Amino acid sequence: EPEVLRDKALMRSWSRSRRCNGQTIALVPTMGFLHEGHLSLIRTAKSLADLIIVSIYVNPGQFSPSEDLSTYPSDFSGDLRKLSAAGVNVVFCPGELYHLASVNEFGGHQEAINGEREGDSCLEDGGSGHETWIRVERLEKGMCGTSRPVFFRGVATVVAKLFNIVEPDVAVFGKKDYQQWRVICRMVRDLDFAVKVIGSDIIRDVDGLAMSSRNVHLSPTQREKALSINRSLSKAKLAAEKGQKNCQDLKDLIKQTISEAGGKIDYVEIVEQQGLSPVEEISCPIVICVAAWFGNVRLIDNLEID
Ligand code: PAJ
Repeated sequence: EPEVLRDKALMRSWSRSRRCNGQTIALVPTMGFLHEGHLSLIRTAKSLADLIIVSIYVNPGQFSPSEDLSTYPSDFSGDLRKLSAAGVNVVFCPGELYHLASVNEFGGHQEAINGEREGDSCLEDGGSGHETWIRVERLEKGMCGTSRPVFFRGVATVVAKLFNIVEPDVAVFGKKDYQQWRVICRMVRDLDFAVKVIGSDIIRDVDGLAMSSRNVHLSPTQREKALSINRSLSKAKLAAEKGQKNCQDLKDLIKQTISEAGGKIDYVEIVEQQGLSPVEEISCPIVICVAAWFGNVRLIDNLEID
């Protein structure tokens, strides 16, 4: 049975005492509603450290007021069962991670909707509760950062907080959220965090859909249509392997495949793997990144070509 810790100070002292004993610690940050993708990160983590901590925290700092914070799925007892079976040592699930000035953490909501405070996250309260943010200035822009302007600021900040509380030796992130993984790598490098960041491969359902907590919001027909994302990526990879090096043509192929299936494209980008700069011709290791809407559900996926 994993130990469930809800308090930052207790979490930190648990970690420190284990590290004093010479044990190494891996952290797997999550927002809960765990699926096989999360569990694969735990398996990766187990191969890298003695003790595994999984955090479950739906971070208001990375959602904008118009996003799905309030409908983000959760199932704490189911999560605990899975984490127990996975042999996790600690589940860290803080009630709140931020110091909020007002009791109403959504205080900025209405103003943000009115457009007066564009760029707000669900944390802004117009007060002085939390005002320190980490911005990975170039990597946070583009792709998911375009349609979600506060997202990576919120992710980088909450992950920095988790690193400071848990003090892990290793942290494991999924390549499913490719830009997120690279943002965290860059933050760790630039700010000298003593954490090794590992990227773990995308886990897909048997039909090819990349696993995501948000998939539960898809109707069966939407889900069927959403398979076009992975299909389009495979098509593009095949075309690239057959010699199609022109990225505009490859992106058009992907857009066409997803649009024909009824998806609404957010972005399709072909970027270099480390710095995520767009490329025009495939001549180095790249990753094709896609985000598309199926009904009210926004899905992301990607495929690396080495
Ligand atoms: P969440 O969406 O719960 O994802 C937690 C971790 O699981 C992330 O590193 C994500 O990339 C990974 N993951 C999700 N689906 C995956 C899949 N199909 N295959 C492989 N890995 C997968 O990402 C977040 O939470 C948050 O932004 C967080 C990092 C916890 C910060 O709040």
